[in-house]
Amino acid sequence: MMDSAFRPISSADIERLQVSQPESGLSAEHELAIPTPPSLAGNYQFIRQLGQGSQAKVFLARRLSDNQMVAIKQLNIESVSSWKEYDLFHREVEVLSSLDIDGVARFYEAIECLEDNPPCSYLVQEYIEGESLGSMLRAGHRFAIAEVYDIILQMLRILYQLQNRPDPVVHRDIKPSNIMLTPAADGYVVSLIDFGAVANPQVQSDAIQHHADACG
Ligand SMILES: Nc1ncnc2c1ncn2[C@@H]1O[C@H](COP(=O)(O)OP(=O)(O)O)[C@@H](O)[C@H]1O
Ligand SMILES: [Mg+2]
Repeated sequence: MMDSAFRPISSADIERLQVSQPESGLSAEHELAIPTPPSLAGNYQFIRQLGQGSQAKVFLARRLSDNQMVAIKQLNIESVSSWKEYDLFHREVEVLSSLDIDGVARFYEAIECLEDNPPCSYLVQEYIEGESLGSMLRAGHRFAIAEVYDIILQMLRILYQLQNRPDPVVHRDIKPSNIMLTPAADGYVVSLIDFGAVANPQVQSDAIQHHADACG
């Protein structure tokens, strides 16, 4: 039987090390870090992959100027199946960069590396520590009823702010994998991520106006 004081190091231990010791020099992180795309290497160090969606990959990275952890969404332009995907990625960039709302990851910068092999677009945003509601549910986590109310209330506050703007933002992809939960003293802090399906009413109303003009 294994002595509980000597359990083998797990991937969860390594992840904790990676996030909690951002300045740890030649640590386990350094040896395990995944390669940073050369065009970004002057400013960021990629650490690990956080997620993989239908079109994009999301990486945890360290911003070298201030050691801040950031989340970088990468769209490999060669892998998109249509220009619509490319357009949606850039719509996410455009919408996120216009938002400053508690509960929505802050936008830092967008980087186009069209000369790279493969050519990629990057969206650098605030890293939300924690786990998505989707992965917690998949892992079998169950929430107390008071936590459920609190999560719903926080989500409603975020949606209210998104929709009560001069140019309302309609997220269109609210689901557990796009809701991040950060453990806090009295529950969770809720953040909404993934504005990759966002409706852009401005663009739509312009398009409708052009159509109406064309039809006389
Ligand atoms: N800002 C962020 N902070 C922390 N994790 C993130 C962040 N953005 C995305 N992720 C992780 O990456 C996953 C995929 O990101 P998402 O933006 O939802 O991309 P996709 O459009 O591919 O679904 C999320 O479910 C989450 O686990
Ligand atoms: Mg998503």
